Parts: sequence; C-alpha cells; structure tokens
Amino acid sequence: MNINKIGVVGAGQMGSGIAQVCALAGMDVVLNDISEERVTAALSVIGSGLAKQVERQQIDEAARDAALARIHPGIDYEAFRDCDLVIEAASENEEVKRRIFTKLCASLRPEALLATNTSSISITRLASATDRPERFIGIHFMNPVPRMQLVELIRGIVTENETFEAAKELITRLGKTFTVSEDFPAFIVNRILLPMINEAIYTLYEGVGSVEAIDTAMRLGANHPMGPLQLADFIGLDTVLSVMQVLHEGLADTKYRPCPLLVKYVEAGWLGRKTQRGFYDYRSGTPIPTR
Ligand SMILES: NC(=O)c1ccc[n+]([C@@H]2O[C@H](COP(=O)([O-])OP(=O)(O)OC[C@H]3O[C@@H](n4cnc5c(N)ncnc54)[C@H](O)[C@@H]3O)[C@@H](O)[C@H]2O)c1
Repeated sequence: MNINKIGVVGAGQMGSGIAQVCALAGMDVVLNDISEERVTAALSVIGSGLAKQVERQQIDEAARDAALARIHPGIDYEAFRDCDLVIEAASENEEVKRRIFTKLCASLRPEALLATNTSSISITRLASATDRPERFIGIHFMNPVPRMQLVELIRGIVTENETFEAAKELITRLGKTFTVSEDFPAFIVNRILLPMINEAIYTLYEGVGSVEAIDTAMRLGANHPMGPLQLADFIGLDTVLSVMQVLHEGLADTKYRPCPLLVKYVEAGWLGRKTQRGFYDYRSGTPIPTR
C-alpha cells in the first residue's frame, strides 16, 4: 500500500515531530488536536524545528517551505477522509485513545491503516476499539522524533502482515531504523528505560542523592547523555507515570510500583518541560533543581 497522506491525532511533542518528519519525506499531513490553538502552537513548534534543521544545514530552505506547505490543520475528523494512514499520538491514557478510535473510524476509508504511538498500552486492546484490528499497528517513535533513529513496531494479535509491511516501508522511507517488539506492556525500550527512571525518582525520594547528584552520577558514571531526572522531565512526568502504571498493572509485579514522589509531582501539575516545572524549574531559562 502506498502511503502518501498521513493523519496525526494529537499535536503535542510527539505528534508535531511525526508530522515534521512525514512532511519532510514528501507526505501530505493532516494534524489534529482538541483545539485550533493547540494545532497552531504545534505548527509554530514545527516551524522552529525545521528552521533549526536549516541552520544545521541538514535541509535547505526550499525543503523547509515545501514541508510546511504539506502540513494542514484538521480539527474535524472529516479531514482524515482521504488519509492512507492515521497515527494517534494523543495523551498516554487508554480511555482517551479508545474514544478517539471509536469516533475516528467512521471518518476513514475502509482500507486506511491506523496506528498508535503509545509508549506502553496493549496494541491488541487498543485495536479492539477500532473497526479494523487487522489494519491496526503500534508505531512507536522516540522523542525527539526528528533526531531519534529508532522506531519500535508492535503487532497486535490480529494485525495483518500487509499492515506490518506497510509500516516497515514507511519507517524506511523516513530514513529510520525499526525494531520489532511483541505486544507486552511498554514493549522493549520503555520496559527497560522507565523502571530505571522510576528507580532514580525513588533514589531522590529516599534522600540517597539530590536531583543534581543523581543526574550527574548517571551522566558521568554510566555515560548516559542525559541524567534520568532530566530525561523524565523531557519525556513528561504524566507519560512516565502512565507507563509505570501500565507496567505495574500489566505485569502485576511490585517492582514496577510508581514512586509516590512521581505521583505527587503529576498531581501538582509539575509535568516537566512541557509545564516549565518538574524535577527542574525551567521558568528562568536556566534549569534549577526543585529538590
Ligand atoms: N514524550 C515522549 O518521550 C514519548 C515518546 C514516545 C511515545 N510517546 C507517546 O506519544 C503520545 C503523545 O505523547 P506526547 O509526549 O506528545 O504528549 P503531549 O502531552 O506533549 O501531547 C499530547 C497531545 O494530545 C492531545 N490530545 C489529548 N486528547 C486528545 C484528543 N481527544 N484528540 C486529539 N488530541 C488530543 C493534547 O491536547 C496534547 O496536545 C503518548 O501516547 C506517549 O506515550 C511519548
């Protein structure tokens, strides 16, 4: 199946990144979110992202202009009517995603493919909220999408081979590399990465080290490019908590229990970079540890 037009539902950090890379690869993109303001904000983020790529001489100005012209806001699901594939990248909440699929399917061509960028939720379970589980697949991009090379592909129990092949072709066309994961909670990358981040939060919670000590220790002691708390802020603490909850419930093992301090930060609305406060306070322009 030729994928020439893509829909993206959810224009946050992942949805805007996905729209950016697909448009740069020559596909038309319809970008959706819960309000026009959010889509407008995403278009401005994409504009800045493309400008940075021009600065770094990764693309020229003509490519930037062409990519921007290929992205169209689509507040109404009717805008997805002629899409070959729609990728859902809304908040990491199963109910939100199920509601989107139930409503969205009515506006899609019967042969259109549907994918989710979920970090952790069962692909088989999400597929059951659609009218096309055979044409449903997990396409898990990494953050930030334009910079990260890997994409995880996850088949649900009824995903057809044709759908899997189309997803593989798409990833290759985007110049990225895929790995295949079975449909288990949080797949491969987050099954390993998120418990490490959660453990870093426990280390902070128990007073073993400060935010700065923990991040410095892992950057210089384990050669990680970012400290785990800095990374948690980058991912979004709401997403980190949701993934830990999916692991905890899905694998029924107390080793995945979300740290109470993480829960508290999310309850306070401290979600990391996207709200300007998390394990660091970003409001002054220089990140200041909050503990
Ligand atoms: N943040 C990461 O590092 C990362 C990495 C890989 C995958 N993901 C996954 O990608 C998805 C999005 O994460 P994000 O980091 O972009 O989150 P985000 O909070 O930056 O963006 C989520 C967007 O979804 C929108 N949204 C919520 N309900 C919606 C609805 N009903 N219809 C349309 N839009 C809706 C929100 O308004 C928001 O703009 C999640 O499933 C997350 O687990 C995140």
